[in-house]
Amino acid sequence: MSADDLLCLVYISRSAGPVSDDALLALLVQARSNNARDGITGMLLYKGGYFMQALEGPNALVQALYRRICLDPRHRDVTTLIKFQPDGRAFDGWTMGFANIDRIPPEQRAGISPFLDQDFEPASWAEAPHQAMRLLRAFRDVNGDSTQDTRPVEA
Ligand SMILES: Cc1cc2nc3c(=O)[nH]c(=O)nc-3n(C[C@H](O)[C@H](O)[C@H](O)COP(=O)(O)O)c2cc1C
Repeated sequence: MSADDLLCLVYISRSAGPVSDDALLALLVQARSNNARDGITGMLLYKGGYFMQALEGPNALVQALYRRICLDPRHRDVTTLIKFQPDGRAFDGWTMGFANIDRIPPEQRAGISPFLDQDFEPASWAEAPHQAMRLLRAFRDVNGDSTQDTRPVEA
């Protein structure tokens, strides 16, 4: 696949109700299996009833996935923050990285990102979408060593 065909899309959404650890795990298992098939990589964050996710991969497949995600009853108010053609993948090798920010102990928070404690209210992130990308990349960079529930996944 040429870099011309790559699409990166970041959105934020509100969960439809309380999300249990089991429900998050089921979502991730489904996402990772489909994404491995489709050559999609990315990072999913959960915080206080909101999701933030970066999706990257072949343009048509990312768009098709995003259409499915927008229709998914597990969340609502899906708001696109950024959509661009990257030079390369930021989450290469991660069929879907994941972190539940609510579960990160205070002593581990400081080293991750200055944006970690910001609420996931869509409006404020929509005004500064590149901060969202920086937050998502920060979880790629900690690479599972210092945050619970974040782990690299082989593509
Ligand atoms: C917050 C959130 C993130 C999701 N991320 C992905 C994803 O990365 N890949 C994926 O295939 N499905 C993802 N889904 C699930 C899709 O909305 C949809 O249910 C799924 O792609 C359908 O897959 P199926 O054809 O296996 O039934 C996500 C859903 C939610 C609520």
